[in-house]
Amino acid sequence: MNPNEAKIEIEILSKELSYHNHLYYVESNPSISDYDFDVLLKQLQELEDKFPQFADENSPTKRVGGDITKKFDSVVHKFPMLSLSNTYSEDEIRDWVTRITKLEDGDLEFVCELKYDGVAIGIQYINGSLKQAVTRGDGMQGENVTSNVKTIKTIPLRLTGDYPGNFEIRGEIFFPLKNFNRLNEKRRYEGEPEFANPRNTASGTLKMLNSKVVATRGLDCFLYGIYGTDVEAGHYEMVNRVADWGFKTPKPKDRLIEKTKTVEGVMDFITHWDKNRGDLPFEIDGIVIKVNNYLQQEELGFTAKSPRWAIAYKFKTERVDTTLESVVYQVGRTGAVTPVANLKPVQLGGTTVKRASLYNADQIERLNLHLDDQVYVEKGGEIIPKIVGVNIDARSTSAEQIIFIDNCPECDTTLERKEGEVHHYCLNESNCPPQIKGRIEHFISRKALNIDGLGAETVDALFDAKLISNYADLYDLTFDQVVELERMADKSANNLIFGIRDSKDIPFERVLFGLGIRFVGETVAKKLTKGLKNMNALASATFEELIAIDEIGDRIAESILMFFDDEENKLLVQRLKDAGLNFEIVEKEGASNKFEGHSFVVSGVFTSFSRTELKEVIEMNGGKNVSSISAKTDFVVAGDKMGPAKLKKATDLGITILSEDDFIKKLNE
Ligand code: IVH
Repeated sequence: MNPNEAKIEIEILSKELSYHNHLYYVESNPSISDYDFDVLLKQLQELEDKFPQFADENSPTKRVGGDITKKFDSVVHKFPMLSLSNTYSEDEIRDWVTRITKLEDGDLEFVCELKYDGVAIGIQYINGSLKQAVTRGDGMQGENVTSNVKTIKTIPLRLTGDYPGNFEIRGEIFFPLKNFNRLNEKRRYEGEPEFANPRNTASGTLKMLNSKVVATRGLDCFLYGIYGTDVEAGHYEMVNRVADWGFKTPKPKDRLIEKTKTVEGVMDFITHWDKNRGDLPFEIDGIVIKVNNYLQQEELGFTAKSPRWAIAYKFKTERVDTTLESVVYQVGRTGAVTPVANLKPVQLGGTTVKRASLYNADQIERLNLHLDDQVYVEKGGEIIPKIVGVNIDARSTSAEQIIFIDNCPECDTTLERKEGEVHHYCLNESNCPPQIKGRIEHFISRKALNIDGLGAETVDALFDAKLISNYADLYDLTFDQVVELERMADKSANNLIFGIRDSKDIPFERVLFGLGIRFVGETVAKKLTKGLKNMNALASATFEELIAIDEIGDRIAESILMFFDDEENKLLVQRLKDAGLNFEIVEKEGASNKFEGHSFVVSGVFTSFSRTELKEVIEMNGGKNVSSISAKTDFVVAGDKMGPAKLKKATDLGITILSEDDFIKKLNE
């Protein structure tokens, strides 16, 4: 394919992918399979690798994230990002509607919308292309979080239809409940403390430095305002119109937006959503009522903080009060300690609530909890209810204050709280029962060693019978030992022993994940195995070697070093090796270690390989890919169109420069 053909093909593929992305995420009505979508995406990625000069910053391939930000730049808002005046009183809403109606001589329409409970964002589009996305910040200036926002699939990177040349659109980024609950489930599974609520987690996610992680979280966005253009006379019409440009907007057919001329119309919308908001797949905290016509909005103007043409009605969240009977502390696999409140059972949102998470010591302090307190409990869309306040008047003077524990409730070790962390940890990894059992449960879980016939209850039983106290002990178990356990029939014992034996075929990356090294999840384990190939290399890797691997940062590297520095862990790993578990990656054909110890920078365009393929060949042969040229670089593989500055730097540093042919020769040497 020549460059001209490639350029056209890239444009066609990009358009097609944007279209299918829109159908899938915005319209929820896909017309091709996920597989077919991935095939197209891969084709585009390969073409862009081969012809990087045509790879657009808003190509559909950019959705997966990848940019790592060191610090978000501050950006001054062209139009200040104000807030809304709000009220919990229906009467105040009636008064507001009546007052505004009088001001405009009765000739006006109101638009009712949901008040999405998320984080405000302002996104600038120039010539139909997403240029910049900025958080609200203090209203005057916010943070440039463009690379994170680009990973949100319902936000178009390029617009369609008849859009204005330069405008800003504002909306709310939120965490759909399904994705939020899935994330917490994963955290539970990995022994990490759970996130408290979707809004704060959406806000935290938007400010993460690694956009790849943001891409995996599944944030979403609704848009509610446009600035810098006036292609329609009213807000309601505008919202409809921007849907043609590719934005996800609230649909009248779902009653997510409604136009009305009367106060009854407004109140009906409020009542409907107060009653039905539990059915929405995301959280809202109220209703926003806006004057529709832009000229009338202008006439009404602003106060110092908020527009006069809009008001928010905030829902009173369903809240019950009950008695705090006790606080217990749960210790997770990683030693993180979570306080949990035991409550006098109470009905809330259709279920009986007996427990509420207190998250951490700060939360207990914030609430200034005392035993037997009358506490207010609320439930959002999340699974776990939370205590939001205390009725101090109902407290007896002799009530005992709840003080976060100093020692582990399971093994009595003094708890520690590291700087910058909100959780307390029990560091007695090797002797604290829930940590030991948690690690074994993680080791046998489906995504790790997937040991059939072994679940949490059996782990408990084996642990209590002193047959296992770590995961390596599993491989010493015999049928005779296991069958002795209570409620263990011959068949189950057999299943268990065979399950353990079969786990010896599980690939290295899953064994590594199973070790339960903090911060080494599934993806990180894959990256590590790819980068270092075997357990020996990993166990002896230096900090520098670790962080040179794709996506491995300081925090992960330190955790790995700490793990392999520990004598007990070393012994465990040795026992797993002796038991015959997979300790190295199964190499693909054509692999060697001829580039071992050498680092490469690949730059420019090649004829026989795409850049990704070339890098894979380097890694397959033991070499290391680095992104920028430094004195430590051994080779620069220079393709067509390599930048002159890079070439000069390589020459100045005396680095060997290989042409594509030189590289192939070296590979075949
Ligand atoms: S309109 C001048 N519409 O609520 C402000 N805001 O307290 C115009 N919000 O910062 C905002 N849903 O983050 C508007 N349908 C909606 C909204 C909405 C949520 C948020 C937004 C804003 C805050 C105001």
